[in-house]
Amino acid sequence: MKFLVITYGCQMNVRDSEAVTALLMRQGYERAEGEADADIIVINTCSVRGKAEAKALGKLGLLVADSRRNYPDRVIGVMGCMVQRLGEELFKKVPGLGFGIGTHALSRLPLVLQEVFEGKAPVLDVDEDDDPEALTGHVEGNLSAYVNILLGCDRRCTYCIVPHVRGHEWSRPADSVVAEVGELVAQGVREVTLLGQSVMNYGRRNAVWPEGSTSAGGYETPFPRLLEAVDAVVGIERVRFTSGHPSGCTTELVRAMSELPTVCEHLHLPCQSGSDPILARMRRGYTSDQFRQAARALQAAVPGVALSTDIIVGFPGETGEDFERTRAFMAEIGFDNAFIFKYSPRSGTPAAEWPDDVSDEEKMRRNQVLLEDQTRRVEAINRALVGQDVNVLVEGPSLRNAARWSGRTRTNKVVVFDPVPGVERGNCVDVTVDRVTATTLYGGVTS
Ligand code: 5AD
Ligand code: SF4
Repeated sequence: MKFLVITYGCQMNVRDSEAVTALLMRQGYERAEGEADADIIVINTCSVRGKAEAKALGKLGLLVADSRRNYPDRVIGVMGCMVQRLGEELFKKVPGLGFGIGTHALSRLPLVLQEVFEGKAPVLDVDEDDDPEALTGHVEGNLSAYVNILLGCDRRCTYCIVPHVRGHEWSRPADSVVAEVGELVAQGVREVTLLGQSVMNYGRRNAVWPEGSTSAGGYETPFPRLLEAVDAVVGIERVRFTSGHPSGCTTELVRAMSELPTVCEHLHLPCQSGSDPILARMRRGYTSDQFRQAARALQAAVPGVALSTDIIVGFPGETGEDFERTRAFMAEIGFDNAFIFKYSPRSGTPAAEWPDDVSDEEKMRRNQVLLEDQTRRVEAINRALVGQDVNVLVEGPSLRNAARWSGRTRTNKVVVFDPVPGVERGNCVDVTVDRVTATTLYGGVTS
């Protein structure tokens, strides 16, 4: 029987999709090439903005209609954040679904499928007693892999649905994380990205979930210690982690980033706004000055570090002045990359009770202004790399032009270069940059 998983949302969702793929393959299911040959289609969903939910609902509606007409035996299921948020309501919104499985029940997907095949559809499983250690499987053949280290989120940013859909923070035992990285290396992986909503909170404390799982070696390992342990795994070339928070940019963390050879000069540090009243109402837990201190500490200790960020425009009460402060703040920090989002009220969050008083047109305008600023900024940052050597993890033929090869720098920039004899996928080589755009560096292999 063949299955297909379609993923919306963040890196955690990409990771969850891979984990259930590995789980189903262990159970004897096969991966489908595409929708046409799939007996089971699972959509992994995101609830972070209304648009993400609308997209998944639209896709589900189309799939159900198509299956009714052309593939009557096919099962359409849903997993992840939207299932957790909507519960039974999901089956009312999209009649004809086979199952919904929440963020804390994924290891039971084979059992849920069994129930569907026994004729019990639609089956809903949003219980919160998952076994995360049953979800450590990976699909072989990749150079880079995501590794979950911290599940859930204990922050309460006023706009954010994530704590509602992904539950309390829970740190995986460090020995289990290190063992997973070791297995990945044995499978040919060269780069890992350690994942957590607020990843630097790793090891601070463990919630009661899952029951009885405050295992030794787990929650007492602070994040910089975990980085040291992962860095020490023989054969790992690059280590990244996401997402950061200024409160986690301690002297210890900065030292780990500057001293550990595999830890890349790259950090995603969402700032959301550069205006203090907005940051306070977002309940982000830092002021713009605290963010500035964190960024400066990293920039001073880690030469060439690339910081990327997330920004929300049009948060309730965001004035033109607040917006201009964000604009100036982004220029001051000099982010290498920025993901800019229009504020979207999420029911159940505190901010959803406040008037959504910035018009959609104005949100769009602010979004556009920041995007244009950012493109100019990154062009200038990249231009300064012309003539320099950058270290590239070789991925193989470029997607756009198979005659050229591509890879990424330690700062996570895409590099396109001509293949040379002896250089293979998975190698790290130095490339001299001779031309740049806002998205890509071009050059030739020097070593
Ligand atoms: N509206 C718009 N953007 C949001 N994000 C989180 N919640 C919302 C919301 N309600 C953004 C934040 C976060 C990123 C993953 O999504 O910028 O960092
Ligand atoms: Fe990821 Fe948040 Fe979307 Fe869930 S709601 S998929 S945690 S971005």
